[in-house]
Amino acid sequence: MQISLEAKPYAALETEALVSYVFEETDPVQGRISELDQATNGLLRNLAKSGELTGKTLEMTLIHAPAGLKAARLLLVGAGKREQFSSATLRKIAGAALRYLKVRSVKQFAFLVRENAAAEDSSQSIAEGALGANFESDKYKTEKKNDKSIDTVLLTGYSDAERSSAERGLARGRVIADAQNFARDLINEPSNKLTPKILAEKAEAMAKQAGLAVEILDEKKIADLKMGALLSVSQGGPEPPRVMVVTYTPANLKPGAPVIGLIGKAVTFDTGGISIKPADGMEKMKYDMAGGATMLGVMRALAALKPNVKVICVVPSTENMPGGTAQKPGDIQTAMSGKTIEVLNTDAEGRLILADGLHYAKQLGATHLIDAATLTGAIVVALANVNVGVFGSDQPFTDKLLASSKVAGEKMWQMPIDDEYREFIKGTVADIQNIGSGKGGGAITGAMFIKEFAGDSPWIHLDIAGTAWNDDAKSWLAKGPTGVALRTLVHLVMSY
Ligand code: BES
Ligand code: ZN
Ligand code: ZN
Repeated sequence: MQISLEAKPYAALETEALVSYVFEETDPVQGRISELDQATNGLLRNLAKSGELTGKTLEMTLIHAPAGLKAARLLLVGAGKREQFSSATLRKIAGAALRYLKVRSVKQFAFLVRENAAAEDSSQSIAEGALGANFESDKYKTEKKNDKSIDTVLLTGYSDAERSSAERGLARGRVIADAQNFARDLINEPSNKLTPKILAEKAEAMAKQAGLAVEILDEKKIADLKMGALLSVSQGGPEPPRVMVVTYTPANLKPGAPVIGLIGKAVTFDTGGISIKPADGMEKMKYDMAGGATMLGVMRALAALKPNVKVICVVPSTENMPGGTAQKPGDIQTAMSGKTIEVLNTDAEGRLILADGLHYAKQLGATHLIDAATLTGAIVVALANVNVGVFGSDQPFTDKLLASSKVAGEKMWQMPIDDEYREFIKGTVADIQNIGSGKGGGAITGAMFIKEFAGDSPWIHLDIAGTAWNDDAKSWLAKGPTGVALRTLVHLVMSY
Protein backbone atom coordinates (compact mmCIF):
# COMPACT_ATOMS: atom_id res chain seq x y z
CA MET A 1 0.00 0.00 0.00
CA GLN A 2 1.27 3.43 -0.98
CA ILE A 3 0.84 6.31 1.43
CA SER A 4 1.93 9.82 0.56
CA LEU A 5 1.23 13.52 1.05
CA GLU A 6 -1.07 15.30 -1.38
CA ALA A 7 -0.75 19.06 -1.83
CA LYS A 8 -3.80 19.61 -4.07
CA PRO A 9 -6.78 21.29 -2.33
CA TYR A 10 -8.99 18.52 -0.99
CA ALA A 11 -12.18 19.82 -2.65
CA ALA A 12 -10.52 19.27 -6.02
CA LEU A 13 -9.26 15.75 -5.27
CA GLU A 14 -10.66 13.11 -7.56
CA THR A 15 -10.54 10.37 -4.98
CA GLU A 16 -12.76 7.34 -4.33
CA ALA A 17 -13.32 8.64 -0.82
CA LEU A 18 -12.42 11.72 1.18
CA VAL A 19 -12.15 10.87 4.89
CA SER A 20 -12.14 13.25 7.84
CA TYR A 21 -13.20 13.17 11.50
CA VAL A 22 -15.76 14.94 13.63
CA PHE A 23 -15.64 15.81 17.32
CA GLU A 24 -18.49 15.05 19.67
CA GLU A 25 -19.56 18.52 20.81
CA THR A 26 -22.62 20.75 20.83
CA ASP A 27 -21.91 21.81 17.28
CA PRO A 28 -19.89 19.10 15.50
CA VAL A 29 -19.86 21.16 12.29
CA GLN A 30 -16.85 23.39 12.90
CA GLY A 31 -13.58 24.31 11.20
CA ARG A 32 -12.82 22.06 8.25
CA ILE A 33 -16.10 20.20 8.75
CA SER A 34 -17.89 23.49 8.30
CA GLU A 35 -15.94 24.01 5.04
CA LEU A 36 -17.12 20.56 3.91
CA ASP A 37 -20.64 21.50 4.98
CA GLN A 38 -20.52 24.55 2.71
CA ALA A 39 -19.12 22.47 -0.13
CA THR A 40 -22.05 20.08 0.30
CA ASN A 41 -24.72 22.79 0.56
CA GLY A 42 -25.41 22.32 4.26
CA LEU A 43 -25.78 18.55 4.14
CA LEU A 44 -23.54 17.96 7.17
CA ARG A 45 -25.38 20.44 9.37
CA ASN A 46 -28.65 18.73 8.47
CA LEU A 47 -27.18 15.34 9.36
CA ALA A 48 -25.95 16.75 12.67
CA LYS A 49 -29.40 18.19 13.41
CA SER A 50 -31.10 14.89 12.67
CA GLY A 51 -28.64 13.07 14.97
CA GLU A 52 -26.97 11.09 12.21
CA LEU A 53 -23.66 12.88 12.65
CA THR A 54 -22.75 13.01 16.33
CA GLY A 55 -18.97 12.63 16.50
CA LYS A 56 -19.27 9.64 18.87
CA THR A 57 -16.03 7.64 18.84
CA LEU A 58 -15.63 5.70 15.58
CA GLU A 59 -19.17 6.42 14.38
CA MET A 60 -19.15 6.13 10.57
CA THR A 61 -21.16 8.46 8.34
CA LEU A 62 -20.82 7.71 4.64
CA ILE A 63 -22.13 10.12 2.04
CA HIS A 64 -22.16 9.14 -1.63
CA ALA A 65 -21.54 11.61 -4.45
CA PRO A 66 -21.24 14.69 -2.21
CA ALA A 67 -22.21 17.73 -4.26
CA GLY A 68 -19.45 20.33 -4.44
CA LEU A 69 -16.62 17.82 -3.97
CA LYS A 70 -14.72 15.90 -6.63
CA ALA A 71 -14.58 12.88 -4.29
CA ALA A 72 -16.93 9.97 -5.01
CA ARG A 73 -17.65 9.55 -1.29
CA LEU A 74 -17.25 11.51 1.92
CA LEU A 75 -16.63 9.45 5.03
CA LEU A 76 -16.80 11.16 8.41
CA VAL A 77 -15.47 9.26 11.40
CA GLY A 78 -16.44 10.10 14.98
CA ALA A 79 -13.48 11.33 17.02
CA GLY A 80 -15.14 11.48 20.44
CA LYS A 81 -14.77 14.40 22.84
CA ARG A 82 -12.22 17.02 21.80
CA GLU A 83 -10.65 17.08 25.30
CA GLN A 84 -9.97 13.34 25.15
CA PHE A 85 -8.63 13.36 21.61
CA SER A 86 -5.03 12.18 21.22
CA SER A 87 -2.69 10.70 18.64
CA ALA A 88 -3.98 7.31 19.84
CA THR A 89 -7.52 8.27 18.73
CA LEU A 90 -6.27 9.52 15.38
CA ARG A 91 -4.41 6.23 14.80
CA LYS A 92 -7.64 4.29 15.40
CA ILE A 93 -9.66 6.65 13.20
CA ALA A 94 -7.29 6.16 10.28
CA GLY A 95 -7.34 2.40 10.81
CA ALA A 96 -11.11 2.15 11.16
CA ALA A 97 -11.65 4.28 8.05
CA LEU A 98 -9.33 2.06 6.03
CA ARG A 99 -11.05 -1.14 7.12
CA TYR A 100 -14.50 0.39 6.59
CA LEU A 101 -13.67 1.40 3.02
CA LYS A 102 -11.73 -1.76 2.21
CA VAL A 103 -14.74 -4.06 2.70
CA ARG A 104 -16.68 -1.72 0.40
CA SER A 105 -14.13 -2.40 -2.38
CA VAL A 106 -12.66 1.09 -2.28
CA LYS A 107 -9.03 0.98 -3.48
CA GLN A 108 -7.85 4.50 -2.86
CA PHE A 109 -8.80 7.27 -0.44
CA ALA A 110 -7.63 10.64 0.84
CA PHE A 111 -7.41 11.38 4.56
CA LEU A 112 -8.01 15.01 5.46
CA VAL A 113 -6.49 16.11 8.79
CA ARG A 114 -8.38 18.64 10.83
CA GLU A 115 -7.25 22.23 11.31
CA ASN A 116 -4.63 22.68 14.07
CA ALA A 117 -3.39 19.08 13.88
CA ALA A 118 0.32 18.93 14.79
CA ALA A 119 1.81 17.96 11.41
CA GLU A 120 4.55 15.53 12.43
CA ASP A 121 2.55 13.71 15.13
CA SER A 122 -0.62 13.46 13.11
CA SER A 123 0.97 12.20 9.90
CA GLN A 124 2.88 9.57 11.91
CA SER A 125 -0.30 8.40 13.66
CA ILE A 126 -2.30 8.23 10.45
CA ALA A 127 0.45 6.22 8.72
CA GLU A 128 0.70 3.82 11.66
CA GLY A 129 -3.07 3.46 11.88
CA ALA A 130 -3.64 2.92 8.17
CA LEU A 131 -0.72 0.54 7.53
CA GLY A 132 -1.49 -1.43 10.70
CA ALA A 133 -5.15 -1.73 9.75
CA ASN A 134 -4.27 -2.96 6.27
CA PHE A 135 -2.62 -6.11 7.69
CA GLU A 136 -4.56 -9.32 6.97
CA SER A 137 -3.83 -12.91 7.97
CA ASP A 138 -4.39 -14.28 4.47
CA LYS A 139 -0.88 -15.49 3.60
CA TYR A 140 -1.96 -19.13 3.34
CA LYS A 141 -5.32 -18.52 1.65
CA THR A 142 -5.17 -19.71 -1.93
CA GLU A 143 -8.00 -17.38 -2.93
CA LYS A 144 -7.04 -13.88 -1.89
CA LYS A 145 -9.63 -11.14 -1.79
CA ASN A 146 -7.74 -8.90 -4.22
CA ASP A 147 -10.86 -6.87 -4.95
CA LYS A 148 -10.81 -5.93 -1.27
CA SER A 149 -7.49 -4.18 -0.81
CA ILE A 150 -6.46 -0.57 -0.44
CA ASP A 151 -3.67 0.43 -2.82
CA THR A 152 -3.21 4.12 -2.11
CA VAL A 153 -3.78 6.53 0.76
CA LEU A 154 -3.22 10.27 0.33
CA LEU A 155 -2.71 12.58 3.31
CA THR A 156 -4.14 15.98 2.78
CA GLY A 157 -4.84 19.20 4.69
CA TYR A 158 -1.26 20.22 5.54
CA SER A 159 -0.06 23.70 4.61
CA ASP A 160 3.14 24.28 2.61
CA ALA A 161 4.87 25.36 5.81
CA GLU A 162 3.89 22.07 7.47
CA ARG A 163 4.95 19.90 4.59
CA SER A 164 8.43 18.89 5.73
CA SER A 165 7.22 18.05 9.26
CA ALA A 166 4.37 16.01 7.83
CA GLU A 167 6.81 14.15 5.54
CA ARG A 168 9.04 13.37 8.53
CA GLY A 169 6.12 12.01 10.58
CA LEU A 170 4.86 10.00 7.63
CA ALA A 171 8.28 8.43 7.04
CA ARG A 172 8.64 7.51 10.72
CA GLY A 173 5.11 6.12 10.87
CA ARG A 174 5.81 3.99 7.81
CA VAL A 175 8.99 2.53 9.34
CA ILE A 176 7.23 1.72 12.62
CA ALA A 177 4.11 0.22 11.02
CA ASP A 178 6.16 -1.88 8.59
CA ALA A 179 8.22 -3.19 11.52
CA GLN A 180 5.07 -3.96 13.47
CA ASN A 181 3.57 -5.82 10.50
CA PHE A 182 6.85 -7.71 10.09
CA ALA A 183 6.50 -8.88 13.71
CA ARG A 184 2.82 -9.73 13.19
CA ASP A 185 3.68 -11.84 10.14
CA LEU A 186 6.16 -13.86 12.19
CA ILE A 187 3.67 -14.26 15.06
CA ASN A 188 1.05 -15.58 12.64
CA GLU A 189 3.27 -18.36 11.33
CA PRO A 190 2.30 -21.79 12.61
CA SER A 191 4.93 -23.90 14.34
CA ASN A 192 5.45 -26.24 11.37
CA LYS A 193 6.41 -23.22 9.23
CA LEU A 194 8.38 -21.43 11.94
CA THR A 195 10.75 -23.55 14.01
CA PRO A 196 13.52 -21.90 16.07
CA LYS A 197 15.91 -22.58 13.18
CA ILE A 198 13.63 -20.89 10.63
CA LEU A 199 12.98 -17.95 12.94
CA ALA A 200 16.74 -17.50 13.30
CA GLU A 201 17.17 -17.54 9.51
CA LYS A 202 14.49 -14.89 9.15
CA ALA A 203 16.05 -12.80 11.91
CA GLU A 204 19.44 -13.04 10.23
CA ALA A 205 18.02 -12.06 6.84
CA MET A 206 16.18 -9.10 8.36
CA ALA A 207 19.27 -7.91 10.24
CA LYS A 208 21.52 -8.17 7.19
CA GLN A 209 19.04 -6.30 5.04
CA ALA A 210 18.63 -3.60 7.68
CA GLY A 211 22.39 -3.25 8.21
CA LEU A 212 22.40 -4.57 11.78
CA ALA A 213 25.05 -6.83 13.29
CA VAL A 214 23.72 -10.33 13.87
CA GLU A 215 24.92 -13.56 15.42
CA ILE A 216 22.95 -16.79 15.60
CA LEU A 217 23.92 -19.21 18.37
CA ASP A 218 23.24 -22.85 17.43
CA GLU A 219 22.71 -25.73 19.85
CA LYS A 220 26.44 -26.38 20.14
CA LYS A 221 27.31 -22.77 21.03
CA ILE A 222 24.34 -22.69 23.41
CA ALA A 223 25.74 -25.79 25.16
CA ASP A 224 29.25 -24.29 25.24
CA LEU A 225 27.83 -21.21 26.94
CA LYS A 226 26.09 -23.50 29.48
CA MET A 227 22.61 -22.10 28.88
CA GLY A 228 21.14 -24.91 30.96
CA ALA A 229 17.73 -23.32 31.46
CA LEU A 230 17.12 -22.87 27.72
CA LEU A 231 18.49 -26.35 26.95
CA SER A 232 16.19 -27.92 29.55
CA VAL A 233 13.18 -26.69 27.57
CA SER A 234 14.51 -27.67 24.15
CA GLN A 235 15.45 -31.22 25.22
CA GLY A 236 11.79 -32.25 25.03
CA GLY A 237 11.68 -32.34 21.22
CA PRO A 238 13.81 -32.83 18.13
CA GLU A 239 14.00 -29.18 16.99
CA PRO A 240 17.28 -27.59 18.14
CA PRO A 241 17.15 -24.24 20.00
CA ARG A 242 18.60 -21.00 18.71
CA VAL A 243 19.58 -17.69 20.28
CA MET A 244 19.45 -14.65 18.02
CA VAL A 245 21.64 -11.68 18.87
CA VAL A 246 20.96 -8.53 16.85
CA THR A 247 22.90 -5.38 17.68
CA TYR A 248 22.46 -1.74 16.76
CA THR A 249 25.43 0.54 17.44
CA PRO A 250 25.08 4.31 16.97
CA ALA A 251 27.72 6.21 14.99
CA ASN A 252 28.84 8.30 17.96
CA LEU A 253 28.89 5.71 20.73
CA LYS A 254 30.11 7.32 23.98
CA PRO A 255 31.97 5.24 26.54
CA GLY A 256 29.89 4.76 29.69
CA ALA A 257 26.59 5.45 27.91
CA PRO A 258 23.68 3.14 28.74
CA VAL A 259 23.25 0.05 26.57
CA ILE A 260 19.71 -1.22 26.24
CA GLY A 261 19.11 -4.97 26.22
CA LEU A 262 15.88 -6.18 24.61
CA ILE A 263 15.12 -9.81 25.36
CA GLY A 264 12.12 -11.55 23.78
CA LYS A 265 10.60 -14.95 24.54
CA ALA A 266 10.34 -17.01 21.35
CA VAL A 267 8.77 -20.38 22.12
CA THR A 268 7.65 -21.36 18.63
CA PHE A 269 5.15 -23.78 20.15
CA ASP A 270 4.26 -24.35 23.78
CA THR A 271 2.56 -27.69 24.44
CA GLY A 272 3.38 -27.27 28.13
CA GLY A 273 5.88 -30.12 27.96
CA ILE A 274 5.27 -33.01 30.39
CA SER A 275 3.00 -30.65 32.37
CA ILE A 276 0.95 -30.73 29.18
CA LYS A 277 -1.70 -28.13 28.34
CA PRO A 278 -5.36 -29.04 27.66
CA ALA A 279 -6.17 -29.60 23.97
CA ASP A 280 -8.80 -26.86 23.86
CA GLY A 281 -7.22 -23.72 22.40
CA MET A 282 -3.71 -25.19 22.33
CA GLU A 283 -3.32 -24.15 18.68
CA LYS A 284 -2.94 -20.57 19.88
CA MET A 285 0.39 -21.46 21.48
CA LYS A 286 2.04 -20.76 18.12
CA TYR A 287 2.03 -17.14 19.27
CA ASP A 288 4.23 -17.92 22.25
CA MET A 289 7.09 -16.37 20.27
CA ALA A 290 5.41 -12.95 20.10
CA GLY A 291 7.87 -11.36 22.54
CA GLY A 292 10.83 -12.40 20.41
CA ALA A 293 9.17 -11.35 17.15
CA THR A 294 8.32 -7.97 18.65
CA MET A 295 11.91 -7.35 19.76
CA LEU A 296 13.16 -8.27 16.27
CA GLY A 297 10.61 -5.82 14.85
CA VAL A 298 11.87 -3.11 17.20
CA MET A 299 15.42 -3.67 15.89
CA ARG A 300 14.20 -3.46 12.29
CA ALA A 301 12.65 -0.07 13.03
CA LEU A 302 15.69 1.18 14.95
CA ALA A 303 17.99 0.34 12.06
CA ALA A 304 16.09 2.93 10.00
CA LEU A 305 15.42 5.49 12.75
CA LYS A 306 19.02 5.50 14.05
CA PRO A 307 18.73 6.33 17.77
CA ASN A 308 21.72 7.64 19.76
CA VAL A 309 21.94 4.62 22.01
CA LYS A 310 23.33 1.11 21.60
CA VAL A 311 20.74 -1.67 21.67
CA ILE A 312 21.42 -5.39 22.01
CA CYS A 313 18.52 -7.70 21.21
CA VAL A 314 18.67 -11.28 22.48
CA VAL A 315 15.98 -13.75 21.41
CA PRO A 316 16.16 -17.25 22.89
CA SER A 317 14.01 -19.65 20.87
CA THR A 318 12.83 -23.22 21.32
CA GLU A 319 9.80 -25.46 21.17
CA ASN A 320 8.34 -26.80 24.42
CA MET A 321 7.60 -30.46 23.70
CA PRO A 322 6.74 -33.49 25.86
CA GLY A 323 9.01 -36.05 24.15
CA GLY A 324 10.71 -39.00 25.82
CA THR A 325 13.77 -36.89 26.48
CA ALA A 326 11.77 -34.01 27.98
CA GLN A 327 12.54 -32.60 31.38
CA LYS A 328 10.18 -33.75 34.11
CA PRO A 329 8.59 -31.93 37.03
CA GLY A 330 11.06 -31.83 39.88
CA ASP A 331 14.14 -31.81 37.64
CA ILE A 332 16.89 -29.46 38.72
CA GLN A 333 18.61 -27.33 36.09
CA THR A 334 21.57 -24.98 36.25
CA ALA A 335 21.09 -21.68 34.42
CA MET A 336 23.93 -19.92 32.60
CA SER A 337 24.30 -17.59 35.59
CA GLY A 338 25.04 -20.61 37.81
CA LYS A 339 21.73 -20.41 39.71
CA THR A 340 19.98 -23.74 40.24
CA ILE A 341 16.30 -24.12 39.40
CA GLU A 342 13.69 -26.68 40.43
CA VAL A 343 11.41 -27.09 37.44
CA LEU A 344 8.15 -27.87 39.24
CA ASN A 345 6.03 -27.20 36.15
CA THR A 346 7.45 -27.66 32.66
CA ASP A 347 4.79 -25.29 31.28
CA ALA A 348 6.46 -22.36 33.05
CA GLU A 349 9.15 -22.50 30.36
CA GLY A 350 9.22 -18.87 29.22
CA ARG A 351 10.92 -17.71 32.39
CA LEU A 352 13.53 -20.47 31.96
CA ILE A 353 14.61 -19.36 28.52
CA LEU A 354 14.50 -15.69 29.55
CA ALA A 355 16.77 -16.46 32.52
CA ASP A 356 19.58 -17.36 30.12
CA GLY A 357 18.58 -14.62 27.67
CA LEU A 358 18.87 -11.90 30.32
CA HIS A 359 22.13 -13.23 31.67
CA TYR A 360 23.63 -13.34 28.19
CA ALA A 361 22.46 -9.81 27.35
CA LYS A 362 24.19 -8.55 30.49
CA GLN A 363 27.33 -10.45 29.58
CA LEU A 364 27.27 -8.74 26.17
CA GLY A 365 27.21 -5.36 27.89
CA ALA A 366 23.54 -4.42 28.30
CA THR A 367 23.08 -2.10 31.28
CA HIS A 368 19.27 -1.62 31.07
CA LEU A 369 17.12 -4.67 30.43
CA ILE A 370 13.64 -4.98 28.97
CA ASP A 371 12.01 -8.31 28.29
CA ALA A 372 8.74 -9.02 26.50
CA ALA A 373 7.00 -12.36 26.82
CA THR A 374 3.68 -14.13 26.51
CA LEU A 375 4.50 -15.33 29.99
CA THR A 376 1.38 -16.11 32.00
CA GLY A 377 -2.31 -16.92 31.79
CA ALA A 378 -2.50 -15.05 35.10
CA ILE A 379 -1.89 -11.69 33.42
CA VAL A 380 -4.93 -12.41 31.23
CA VAL A 381 -6.97 -12.95 34.42
CA ALA A 382 -5.64 -9.70 35.90
CA LEU A 383 -5.72 -7.32 32.91
CA ALA A 384 -7.61 -9.22 30.17
CA ASN A 385 -6.70 -8.24 26.60
CA VAL A 386 -6.66 -4.53 27.40
CA ASN A 387 -3.41 -3.70 29.22
CA VAL A 388 0.11 -5.08 28.97
CA GLY A 389 1.37 -6.06 32.44
CA VAL A 390 4.45 -4.00 33.34
CA PHE A 391 6.90 -5.01 36.07
CA GLY A 392 9.89 -2.81 36.82
CA SER A 393 12.78 -2.78 39.28
CA ASP A 394 13.68 0.89 38.71
CA GLN A 395 10.85 3.43 38.92
CA PRO A 396 12.37 6.24 36.79
CA PHE A 397 13.13 3.72 34.02
CA THR A 398 9.62 2.22 34.32
CA ASP A 399 8.04 5.69 34.28
CA LYS A 400 9.91 6.46 31.06
CA LEU A 401 8.45 3.34 29.47
CA LEU A 402 4.94 4.12 30.71
CA ALA A 403 5.21 7.63 29.26
CA SER A 404 6.27 6.16 25.90
CA SER A 405 3.32 3.75 25.98
CA LYS A 406 0.93 6.71 26.25
CA VAL A 407 2.42 8.38 23.17
CA ALA A 408 2.41 5.08 21.29
CA GLY A 409 -1.21 4.40 22.17
CA GLU A 410 -0.46 1.01 23.74
CA LYS A 411 -2.15 0.49 27.10
CA MET A 412 0.12 -0.71 29.88
CA TRP A 413 -0.43 -1.15 33.61
CA GLN A 414 2.23 -1.43 36.28
CA MET A 415 2.06 -4.43 38.61
CA PRO A 416 3.79 -4.80 42.00
CA ILE A 417 7.00 -6.73 42.68
CA ASP A 418 7.40 -6.27 46.45
CA ASP A 419 10.08 -8.31 48.20
CA GLU A 420 7.37 -10.41 49.88
CA TYR A 421 6.75 -12.13 46.54
CA ARG A 422 10.35 -13.38 46.50
CA GLU A 423 9.29 -15.98 49.11
CA PHE A 424 6.97 -17.55 46.52
CA ILE A 425 9.83 -18.81 44.38
CA LYS A 426 12.30 -19.86 47.10
CA GLY A 427 13.46 -23.36 46.22
CA THR A 428 13.20 -26.38 48.51
CA VAL A 429 16.23 -28.23 47.19
CA ALA A 430 17.63 -25.72 44.66
CA ASP A 431 18.06 -21.92 44.71
CA ILE A 432 14.69 -21.12 43.14
CA GLN A 433 11.66 -22.89 41.74
CA ASN A 434 9.94 -21.99 38.48
CA ILE A 435 6.40 -21.68 39.86
CA GLY A 436 4.96 -20.05 42.98
CA SER A 437 4.13 -22.10 46.02
CA GLY A 438 0.36 -21.94 45.48
CA LYS A 439 -0.63 -18.49 46.73
CA GLY A 440 -1.95 -16.85 43.56
CA GLY A 441 -0.24 -13.89 41.91
CA GLY A 442 0.92 -16.01 38.98
CA ALA A 443 2.01 -13.12 36.77
CA ILE A 444 4.03 -11.60 39.62
CA THR A 445 5.67 -14.95 40.42
CA GLY A 446 6.79 -15.15 36.79
CA ALA A 447 8.22 -11.65 36.97
CA MET A 448 10.02 -12.37 40.27
CA PHE A 449 11.67 -15.39 38.70
CA ILE A 450 12.99 -13.35 35.76
CA LYS A 451 14.11 -10.57 38.11
CA GLU A 452 16.57 -13.03 39.71
CA PHE A 453 18.53 -12.96 36.47
CA ALA A 454 18.45 -9.19 35.97
CA GLY A 455 20.52 -8.76 39.15
CA ASP A 456 21.10 -5.09 39.96
CA SER A 457 20.52 -3.82 36.41
CA PRO A 458 17.42 -1.65 35.91
CA TRP A 459 14.93 -4.09 34.42
CA ILE A 460 11.41 -4.04 32.97
CA HIS A 461 9.31 -7.09 32.19
CA LEU A 462 6.33 -6.86 29.83
CA ASP A 463 3.81 -9.69 30.09
CA ILE A 464 2.01 -9.59 26.74
CA ALA A 465 0.14 -12.91 27.03
CA GLY A 466 -3.24 -11.15 26.97
CA THR A 467 -2.48 -8.42 24.45
CA ALA A 468 -0.29 -10.01 21.77
CA TRP A 469 -3.28 -11.69 20.14
CA ASN A 470 -6.62 -10.18 19.19
CA ASP A 471 -9.32 -12.89 19.53
CA ASP A 472 -11.95 -10.72 17.85
CA ALA A 473 -11.36 -8.25 15.05
CA LYS A 474 -11.56 -4.60 16.08
CA SER A 475 -12.90 -2.00 13.68
CA TRP A 476 -9.32 -0.70 13.26
CA LEU A 477 -7.40 -3.99 13.49
CA ALA A 478 -7.73 -7.51 12.09
CA LYS A 479 -8.15 -10.53 14.30
CA GLY A 480 -4.84 -12.17 15.21
CA PRO A 481 -1.38 -10.87 16.13
CA THR A 482 -1.14 -7.28 17.35
CA GLY A 483 2.61 -6.63 17.60
CA VAL A 484 1.88 -4.86 20.89
CA ALA A 485 4.75 -3.10 22.71
CA LEU A 486 6.74 -2.48 19.54
CA ARG A 487 5.69 1.17 19.18
CA THR A 488 6.28 1.83 22.88
CA LEU A 489 9.75 0.32 22.80
CA VAL A 490 10.74 2.20 19.65
CA HIS A 491 9.57 5.45 21.24
CA LEU A 492 11.44 4.67 24.45
CA VAL A 493 14.72 3.93 22.67
CA MET A 494 14.34 7.02 20.45
CA SER A 495 13.93 9.18 23.57
CA TYR A 496 17.53 8.46 24.68
N1 BES B 1 2.83 -19.50 27.13
C1 BES B 1 2.21 -19.64 28.38
C2 BES B 1 1.43 -18.39 28.81
C3 BES B 1 0.26 -17.97 27.98
C4 BES B 1 -1.03 -18.23 28.39
C5 BES B 1 0.44 -17.24 26.83
C6 BES B 1 -2.09 -17.79 27.66
C7 BES B 1 -0.62 -16.81 26.08
C8 BES B 1 -1.90 -17.08 26.50
C9 BES B 1 3.23 -19.93 29.46
O1 BES B 1 4.37 -20.59 29.05
C10 BES B 1 2.56 -20.79 30.47
O2 BES B 1 2.14 -21.85 30.13
N2 BES B 1 2.45 -20.29 31.68
C11 BES B 1 1.80 -21.00 32.73
C12 BES B 1 2.60 -20.79 33.99
C13 BES B 1 2.14 -21.65 35.14
C14 BES B 1 2.46 -23.09 34.86
C15 BES B 1 2.84 -21.18 36.39
C16 BES B 1 0.40 -20.43 32.89
O3 BES B 1 0.22 -19.23 32.79
O4 BES B 1 -0.51 -21.22 33.08
ZN1 ZN C 1 4.12 -22.72 29.04
ZN1 ZN D 1 4.90 -20.34 27.03
